Amino acid sequence: MLKYTVTILSKEDKAVKAVAERAYAKINLCLDVVGRRDNGYHELDGVMQSVTLCDDLTVSWEEGDSTEVLLEAAGNPDMPTDGRNLAVKAALLFLDAAGRKGRISVNMVKRIPMAGGLAGGSADAGAVLRACNRLLGEPLTMQELCALGVKLGADVPFCTVCGAARTQGVGEMMTSVVPMPDCSIVVAKRGEGVSTPAAFARLDERYAFFTEDREPWDSRLSDLLPALEQGDLEGVCRAVTNIFEPVVIEMRPDVALLRETMLEHGALTARMSGSGPSVFGIFREEGAAEAACSALREMGADAHVCRPMRENF
Ligand code: C5P
Repeated sequence: MLKYTVTILSKEDKAVKAVAERAYAKINLCLDVVGRRDNGYHELDGVMQSVTLCDDLTVSWEEGDSTEVLLEAAGNPDMPTDGRNLAVKAALLFLDAAGRKGRISVNMVKRIPMAGGLAGGSADAGAVLRACNRLLGEPLTMQELCALGVKLGADVPFCTVCGAARTQGVGEMMTSVVPMPDCSIVVAKRGEGVSTPAAFARLDERYAFFTEDREPWDSRLSDLLPALEQGDLEGVCRAVTNIFEPVVIEMRPDVALLRETMLEHGALTARMSGSGPSVFGIFREEGAAEAACSALREMGADAHVCRPMRENF
């Protein structure tokens, strides 16, 4: 993992510190919705796993009398680089919480597909929170960074810590679990993204707003947790489920096509991630994963081969 701090002098001879940080995508090994709060947010239960597919960030800091956050990004011209971007929001929130003023510049190479259920925006926010904390002398604990993160989005606390965790509540309750065994993972997205609120609205229709007489859903979390403990890759793959998949496939038939292609190339399992429409396939052999990735790219998908992250921050 890249971990260094460099100090360079700006034109005005002021010290500018810069750090490199990686923003790791996540996949959902299991994702269930167990209730709905009065404010419309949903109670989740499942396991998130970070993968090595990442955006590369360089974050620099210069103390000053006013606060300014600049973002420059390469790799995806569709991504907003103004105040709508979660990375910019994260830097502003951090400075406010740390009680400091100055300029934060973020340079980003974007690789994680956007609006795909891979928490790309949340990963950038988490990476900015970690980078700012390192640059300013670690004024906040990891727990405090996560508390800031949840204000930005439900997936941000996990994307700040990374690794593997059972996530409950709206995403703010995390319990670390044994990461999945090493393997190759293909992540692919084809076609338009899915709006998370729209995917939740579909689920609300299907499951009567998660009232008591909800249709049963086949969550295999109780099989997943022991399989992770035992390092049993096949067992993990048998337990991979996502409550969003059947409803999102109705809106995005590409999800089914990506899954079929991965399974035809030898994936042990292939499922949608988060609220979609990205799909991940788990492979024992890297060669098979590479072949699946090439086939998916030929179909016009944005596809990547990566591995599970077995450490956290
Ligand atoms: O937190 P985030 O910005 O990712 O959420 C986007 C939207 O998804 C929320 O505005 C909400 O409509 C929905 N959501 C939800 N329950 C969650 C997380 C998100 O209903 N636990």
